[in-house]
Amino acid sequence: MTAAATDSRALTVHLLERGLIDADDEIDISPLTGGVSNDVVAVRGQRCDFVVKRALDRLRVEQTWLADPARLDTEGRALRVAGSVIADRVPRVLDLDDGYLVIERAPHRWRMWKEMLLDGVVHQHIAEQLGRALGIWQRETAGNAVVAADFADRTAFVQLRLDPFHRAVRDRHPDLAVPIDRTVSAMDQAAVCLVHGDYTPKNVLVDPDGADLWVIDWEVAHLGDPTFDPAWILGHLLLKTLHRPVVAPGYAAAARVFLDALTRTHDAAIDLDPEQLIRQTGCLLLARVDGKSPVDYLDDAARDRARTWARRLLMNPPVTVTDIWELSS
Ligand SMILES: Nc1ncnc2c1ncn2[C@@H]1O[C@H](COP(=O)(O)OP(=O)(O)O)[C@@H](O)[C@H]1O
Ligand SMILES: [Mg+2]
Repeated sequence: MTAAATDSRALTVHLLERGLIDADDEIDISPLTGGVSNDVVAVRGQRCDFVVKRALDRLRVEQTWLADPARLDTEGRALRVAGSVIADRVPRVLDLDDGYLVIERAPHRWRMWKEMLLDGVVHQHIAEQLGRALGIWQRETAGNAVVAADFADRTAFVQLRLDPFHRAVRDRHPDLAVPIDRTVSAMDQAAVCLVHGDYTPKNVLVDPDGADLWVIDWEVAHLGDPTFDPAWILGHLLLKTLHRPVVAPGYAAAARVFLDALTRTHDAAIDLDPEQLIRQTGCLLLARVDGKSPVDYLDDAARDRARTWARRLLMNPPVTVTDIWELSS
């Protein structure tokens, strides 16, 4: 019996026990992560169509295995909080039990925003909705004592973001240590609002023909720095600009639309430090070329330009982060 078959059987038993499927349902289970980690699957049957995320099994290296059950629980709880603030921007949590998170599945025609951006298709209304949603989440979770207590733990965030990104690029570029250290220390001190922690176009599922979108993958959510999530959207739009310079005006417009929607929605309830936002964006750019998980779509010349922009953002910052598009053209 293969590992996959064993996993499918265990999952089927779990879904039956939890009343999510019936004994006579014929279900099809297929991986959604391209089969590499195989911990996100679609489950489809006559009466069901949902997504299940699993805590990885014991065959994984110890560190990953130890981290995963807690991350899955964080994701389920964060999705519930996010859904209670804005119901239609996240999948509904159908169940969270025994290492399985069961969530609503997006309509099948929806696409990852990353794919559309890489294709050069930049829907400004998606950028607007994404900024608005983040603004509402930040505004509504700031000063919430329950959220503060429930998302105080930053272990996964440190393991999966701070160490492989900020600290890895600091080691690689010691001459940038001062601004990177400032960024990290500001982040350490900020416990302002719920931070998604992976707010990238890869984790945004969109209706290609409409304005609907969901933000998924909340496993490193924590109470933290409000500049972190917007920096990831801005940084990723910069990376797409390097990949497809001809679409630069579209990506730049999306960055401005996103940031404008975010700050308007804050309605002065969140202090988004523009200098920290610029530094975070610089760190992210550098992290995605020299950190532990570089993006897979840039050539050497584009990677060099990313380093130049990141240096500019960290050492000689413009007034606002989106000015980098003018400075670089
Ligand atoms: N609710 C969902 N509806 C449809 N597809 C989903 C859903 N959740 C996840 N996926 C698909 O599974 C992929 C991996 O899920 P994600 O939660 O981002 O996990 P990770 O990136 O940690 O593997 C996503 O990129 C997306 O293609
Ligand atoms: Mg993801």
